Amino acid sequence: MSFPKGFLWGGASAANQYEGGYNEGGKGLACADLISGGSLTTSRQITPTIEEDRLYPSHEATDFYHHYEEDIALFAEAGFKAFRMSINWTRIFPNGNDETPNDAGLAFYDRVFDACRKYGIEPIVTIAHFDVPAHLSEVYNGWGSREVIDFYTRYATVLFDRYHEKVKYWITFNEINTATLSIGNFLSLGLQVGASSFIDQPDNMQLRYQALHHQFVASAKVVAYAHEQFPALQVGCMISYMPRYPYTCHPNDVLLAKQEENMHSKFCGDVQVTGKYPYYAKKYFADNGFSIAFAPEDQDILAKGTVDYYTFSYYLTLCVSADENVTKNGHSMIGGSGVNNPYLEQTEWNAMIDPVGLRIALNDIYDRYQLPLMIVENGIGVSEEVAADGQIHDQYRIDYLQKHIAEMDKAIEDGVDLIGYTIWSAVDIVSASTGEMKKRYGIIFVDKYDDGTGTLARKKKDSFAWYQQVIEQNGLAKNETK
Ligand code: BG6
Repeated sequence: MSFPKGFLWGGASAANQYEGGYNEGGKGLACADLISGGSLTTSRQITPTIEEDRLYPSHEATDFYHHYEEDIALFAEAGFKAFRMSINWTRIFPNGNDETPNDAGLAFYDRVFDACRKYGIEPIVTIAHFDVPAHLSEVYNGWGSREVIDFYTRYATVLFDRYHEKVKYWITFNEINTATLSIGNFLSLGLQVGASSFIDQPDNMQLRYQALHHQFVASAKVVAYAHEQFPALQVGCMISYMPRYPYTCHPNDVLLAKQEENMHSKFCGDVQVTGKYPYYAKKYFADNGFSIAFAPEDQDILAKGTVDYYTFSYYLTLCVSADENVTKNGHSMIGGSGVNNPYLEQTEWNAMIDPVGLRIALNDIYDRYQLPLMIVENGIGVSEEVAADGQIHDQYRIDYLQKHIAEMDKAIEDGVDLIGYTIWSAVDIVSASTGEMKKRYGIIFVDKYDDGTGTLARKKKDSFAWYQQVIEQNGLAKNETK
């Protein structure tokens, strides 16, 4: 067995996709609460206010707000050592910039952390998971504005001050690099950046990179605060890591794959781990005519607020071609250069399934940073139903997870310092990119459907018992490791 003692096995979630209770306990409106359901290609829209005839998936989501005790008891039954969740910024500061925090919101998370602690489950807490207060979006243009750094800092320091004895592992921003993804606009504009002026306007990469810079500064400030005030805390970054493969061994393909991987998957980690912008980013900005406004103190702030550990999500790899004669049929995430990888299968939502790619990513990241690593999201979205026998037989999920865990095992044997793995997701929740319920990731089924109906009852899928066994034996059974 290669998994170290104390390895943090568990499951993950995000408040805007899971919590619900969007207007309860004094919570304010978040951008996510203004994004209606549907899919990227159909009716998903950001509306300026809540409209009566639309369905907003975040409003109820799968109702962790009222089910947290039941759900955490289920996590304990599965043997979870860790539970990754996020705090809803607007539950703590309803407008994002209020002078004082909302007591009811703070008390809710006390109850959640206490429930985790009761079962010996380590909470891993994301401070902002696709979560920008709507008020900050409206008045300040979200992260497009430098002022938001101070509001975020106030919010994060309140969290550290309040919960430092209950929560050791923190993550400043979920998938911070999605701020610059030019497609999937709901994600990167509405959820990650919260910039209302972007909506219905031509895309503006200059503003996206400036918004990202503000997030870097905000992240570094709160990391430094945690280090000064509470040295036992571990504060990490979180990157959507998608390795790029060259479609052929032609040097132009190899070069393109490296360049795209640098700017998409490595850039943000480089800034947050080393405390400065990497050389290749400066060239990229110059080539594309972007100029990032640095305040005089920013370089120093970035240097002083480097992260303690590195976390990432891993769902897929991408394949790129520099050859204009090759048909670009690849994942939409990548724009013009993506080609389907002929060696891999895809999920229903066109993600290339690539367990070996996870071992490659783990080795690459560890080689670059030599920091403890955590995979805080990995899993498969499937449209699934309850079978005639009343059960959910998700053997495909077991296969998917088993293959990825086998590669993690090998990466640890390679020498990678991997300290945790939280699957996406513990419980069925709303999809971030498409707003769908039918794209299910959980090992626990929730009776909730795209039209908003359902009893919200929980049911363990077959993968629940399988994962329970993996955790109990701290890794895979012998016959599953290949
Ligand atoms: C990651 C996000 O991008 O992938 C999650 O951090 C998200 O919030 C997950 O849910 C899966 O993506 P999706 O769009 O299928 O929900």
